[in-house]
Amino acid sequence: MNLTAENHRVPLSDGNSIPLLGLGTYADPKKTPKGSCLESVKIAIDAGYRHIDGAFVYYNEHEVGQAIREKIAEGKIKREDIFYCGKLWNTCHPPELVRPTLEKTLKILQLDYVDLYIIELPMAFKPGDAIYPRDENGKMIYHETDLCATWEVECHPYFTQPKLLEFCRQHDIVIVGYSPLGTSRDETWVNVSSPPLLKDPVLNAIGKKYNKTAAQIALRFNVQRGVVVIPKSFNAQRIRENFQIFDFSLTEKEMKEIEALNKNVRYVELLMWRDHPEYPFSDEY
Ligand code: A2P
Repeated sequence: MNLTAENHRVPLSDGNSIPLLGLGTYADPKKTPKGSCLESVKIAIDAGYRHIDGAFVYYNEHEVGQAIREKIAEGKIKREDIFYCGKLWNTCHPPELVRPTLEKTLKILQLDYVDLYIIELPMAFKPGDAIYPRDENGKMIYHETDLCATWEVECHPYFTQPKLLEFCRQHDIVIVGYSPLGTSRDETWVNVSSPPLLKDPVLNAIGKKYNKTAAQIALRFNVQRGVVVIPKSFNAQRIRENFQIFDFSLTEKEMKEIEALNKNVRYVELLMWRDHPEYPFSDEY
């Protein structure tokens, strides 16, 4: 498949298609100035991104929607050019809540539809107004669900997911890899015992050859093997940098070298919820 900045979509079985590179939009709401998501999504659309990954629980979905609407109003894009993925939060898993929750998301976005709506995490919390419902001892209140496990998968050169990839290839399933740059290393939810991905000597050495950064090599590695990536950045230069991955390709030897970096270690383990009956990360893949 010839990947270009204008066309790096992979077909889906329903006739739609998904761009292999998307912008991630999670940033700690306490530390992120209002409006930075809005600006970043607009910069990304101008840079050529057509896939935006967001969620109700990121508290900035209204900014994502505003950015998309402003770019449509400017005539830069049409709604159908954009692939937007929204997410059903853990407190909304009961089937009767799915539709109203999606409708709430559409209202927040002020858009008519989302292109993909996925289960944020397969671990349900007690439904209600609290996003993180806790009992009087501060313990999270879980909820039982009957779940068809369909969710995003962490994927990057330190967690290459060979078995999952093979399974998905056999069944014609497209993988969206979250944390493709190895996360922001926020210790409240990231396992920082694994070294920072972007400091990896192999990624940096290969980058030097192509005059690219380790981040660009990590992203190119995944899109070249058909895995969709959604790097988050709210920095104009890095948003643009992360899109510049369609003007070179990695050799088979380099792809193998990067695959060999796999440590089978997750950055996103969410150990605080490991006693949840549906905790997903103990399964082999
Ligand atoms: P920032 O938003 O300041 O650019 P992931 O997508 O794996 O979760 O990684 C996101 C983290 O990586 C964020 O902290 C983001 O910070 C940072 N980041 C995004 N793009 C790059 C890049 N090209 N080089 C270095 N760090 C990056």
